[in-house]
Amino acid sequence: MDNVVVRNMTLADIDQVLEIEKECFSIPWSKESFITEVEKNILAEYIVVEIANKVVGYGGIWLIMDEGHITNIGVSKSHRGYRVGSIILEKIIDICKEKGIPRITLEVREHNYVAQGLYEKYDFKVFGIRPNYYSDNNENALIMWKNIEK
Ligand SMILES: CC(C)(COP(=O)(O)OP(=O)(O)OC[C@H]1O[C@@H](n2cnc3c(N)ncnc32)[C@H](O)[C@@H]1OP(=O)(O)O)[C@@H](O)C(=O)NCCC(=O)NCCS
Repeated sequence: MDNVVVRNMTLADIDQVLEIEKECFSIPWSKESFITEVEKNILAEYIVVEIANKVVGYGGIWLIMDEGHITNIGVSKSHRGYRVGSIILEKIIDICKEKGIPRITLEVREHNYVAQGLYEKYDFKVFGIRPNYYSDNNENALIMWKNIEK
């Protein structure tokens, strides 16, 4: 892919991010939530992937003590299957490596096999279940963890 830029999310990106968020999730985050994350949450790191000056994916992580907690990864429908999700996850892992964070966790829907495939590709493993975690359909969440090599 040409002209791929990976950079920190800014307030100016949020309208584009919201469009992708709505394509990705049945309970999308609000604009205010993203503004708070980018502007105020000192524990949060958010990145976007841009292709030809258009935001096509984003991801976020909270860095809490010695753990990274991935909050969301989303890729626009038109750009799925072209490694954008992999680029986002690699960047998130790199951020944790740079900051000396030894492990990363996340929740993923039990039936979201595509996302689970992405995480498994980067050695995330299932270590638990949160029953009925998602309020829209009572779907279970799988809790996945990855240890980061030094
Ligand atoms: C999950 C998501 C981020 C993947 O992004 P993507 O850019 O399409 O992913 P990539 O092209 O980098 O593919 C990475 C891996 O995902 C899996 N994957 C991607 N598309 C797939 C498909 N159509 N079917 C099955 N697995 C697939 C594969 O394991 C793939 O690894 P491979 O490249 O070795 O085959 C994207 O589908 C998305 O935004 N989904 C909706 C939001 C979501 O579910 N986010 C995760 C919440 S926990």
